[in-house]
Amino acid sequence: MAGRICELALLLLGLALGSQEALPPPCESQIYCFGELLHQVQMAKLYPDDKEFVDMPLSTAPDQVLRNFDRLVEAHNYSIPREQLQAFVHQHFQAKGQELQAWTPGDWKDSPKFLQKISDPKLRAWAGQLNQIWKKLGKKMKPEVLSHPERFSLIYSKQPFIVPGGRFVEFYYWDSYWVMEGLLLSEMAETVKGMLQNFLDLVQTYGHIPNGGRVYYLQRSQPPLLTLMMHLYLTHTGDIAFLRENIETLALELNFWAQNRSISVDIEGQSYVLNRYYVPYGGPRPESYSKDTELADTLPEAARELLWAELKAGAESGWDFSSRWLVGGPNPNALSSIRTSRLVPVDLNAFLCQAEALMSTFYTTLGEQAQAAKYRNLHAQREAALRAVLWDEEKGAWFDYDIENRKKNHEFYPSNLTPLWAGCFSDPGDVDKALKYLEDNQILNYQHGIPTSLRNTGQQWDFPNAWAPLQDLIIRGLAKSSSPRTQQVAFQLAQNWIRTNFDVYSQKSAMYEKYDISSGGQPGGGGEYEVQEGFGWTNGVVLILLDRYGDQLTSGTSLASLAPHCLGVVLLLSLLSW
Ligand SMILES: *[C@@H]1O[C@H](CO)[C@@H](O)[C@H](O)[C@H]1NC(C)=O
Ligand SMILES: *[C@@H]1O[C@H](CO)[C@@H](O)[C@H](O)[C@H]1NC(C)=O
Repeated sequence: MAGRICELALLLLGLALGSQEALPPPCESQIYCFGELLHQVQMAKLYPDDKEFVDMPLSTAPDQVLRNFDRLVEAHNYSIPREQLQAFVHQHFQAKGQELQAWTPGDWKDSPKFLQKISDPKLRAWAGQLNQIWKKLGKKMKPEVLSHPERFSLIYSKQPFIVPGGRFVEFYYWDSYWVMEGLLLSEMAETVKGMLQNFLDLVQTYGHIPNGGRVYYLQRSQPPLLTLMMHLYLTHTGDIAFLRENIETLALELNFWAQNRSISVDIEGQSYVLNRYYVPYGGPRPESYSKDTELADTLPEAARELLWAELKAGAESGWDFSSRWLVGGPNPNALSSIRTSRLVPVDLNAFLCQAEALMSTFYTTLGEQAQAAKYRNLHAQREAALRAVLWDEEKGAWFDYDIENRKKNHEFYPSNLTPLWAGCFSDPGDVDKALKYLEDNQILNYQHGIPTSLRNTGQQWDFPNAWAPLQDLIIRGLAKSSSPRTQQVAFQLAQNWIRTNFDVYSQKSAMYEKYDISSGGQPGGGGEYEVQEGFGWTNGVVLILLDRYGDQLTSGTSLASLAPHCLGVVLLLSLLSW
């Protein structure tokens, strides 16, 4: 009821304001973020993917472009013929990707040592090829981006970096974590340090890390893994000097999440502070402008700004988009039902919980006891809040909490087990409860990878798609158990995922951002754009699993490709026949 009243109030507020500008625009550029030019070009659909236009550099100064466009608009009384609009874009913009140059990382090596851990020769050869792909994904900026930043949507970074691939030619925040893990296995710590430095610079400039390296991503972030990136880099290098130089910047980033993204939840008379994804900025996402506009056209005008803010919050979660966030409308499969900010997400809070623990350790290492104690307290409070608000003892897992309906969302998502991966749980028995949770939901029956959800909505973060980072969350979460059975399941899930990636690679000579596990494991589909090749985090996760289980994983069909319960049956049968 409270929820209804709140929505009604927002609706009335929107009506009272009576305009599309109730919230500030997604960023400042009148070309790349909002305004008539963006609107006309995107709604004319000059390019199949809206991201293309907002990635194109300007050929001349933005003022000049805007003045010329005003003249064109006036000449045609706001309905510019398509050919003229196209001609205008050709004249004033350059092809996308011009501002980035190919870059071969200086620390790239032909045969990193971990390859020797991989027993299966086919898998070893494949890992060698994945190691080669880093050279294709390396990018650096042309000097013009520094000298004329106003002509680019690209945000300048000093250091070269590795991109996801496909349409994603700039850096992305949470992708980079799994990319860095892969790079460190490939013994490329200098590249990782450069990428970390870029992120730290962004925190210094903007107070947070944007979703990706474009101005139109500025007001939203992505799952906060910067502190963990630092930890990863430190465990490989022991570079304490780098930590000392940058610890304040890590704290600054966590302050952003505390100040701009926290929410208080009251349960049984107790108040807990947790975090959510929340992006109070209006307007369609520039890189998906026509889609967001058309979706908004299905709603009353007063509800549109709210929709756009919730879509941006969905993008901030990294799960853009998923039934996970579609909790606010009559149709749970319609994207217009998106209410990301109404949920307190398990993964976000587990990541922050881990970051707080790491900060406490970092400050201890640096001898700053007061700061160490501060983060130790934050961590303890977070762990208690996770237990009180998100953990469900009966089901044996954590669940996103809906602050309006005041209840957990009991649907299956791999993110429900993130606290295991993040080490944010106090009872060692939780890992084995989580295994039972997976069995109860029949998740272990999927032989090609763990699905993103059990609902098929056509969104890309739903069934039947499977994503590399989510496999990692579950596999390395379960692997923390001391029980041999749970460990065995973790290995089996790794084997399943490696086989899917390897089989698709054998057919297509490519790695993908996601896989469809319903059709025997194929490149994934659904969502807002075509499936992309590359692919940073997919390669990272494969390398992580090959490093960890390289002595056992196999490329061919064998007993190991069966689901764990089948494996038991087969072993039993073979024992009997023996
Ligand atoms: C421009 O278009 C609007 C409506 O689209 C119309 O009312 C107006 O008369 C037009 N102006 C001119 C000068 O044609
Ligand atoms: C975070 O909050 C501060 C203070 O309210 C505000 O000035 C800043 O713009 C916010 N940052 C973002 C990215 O929204």
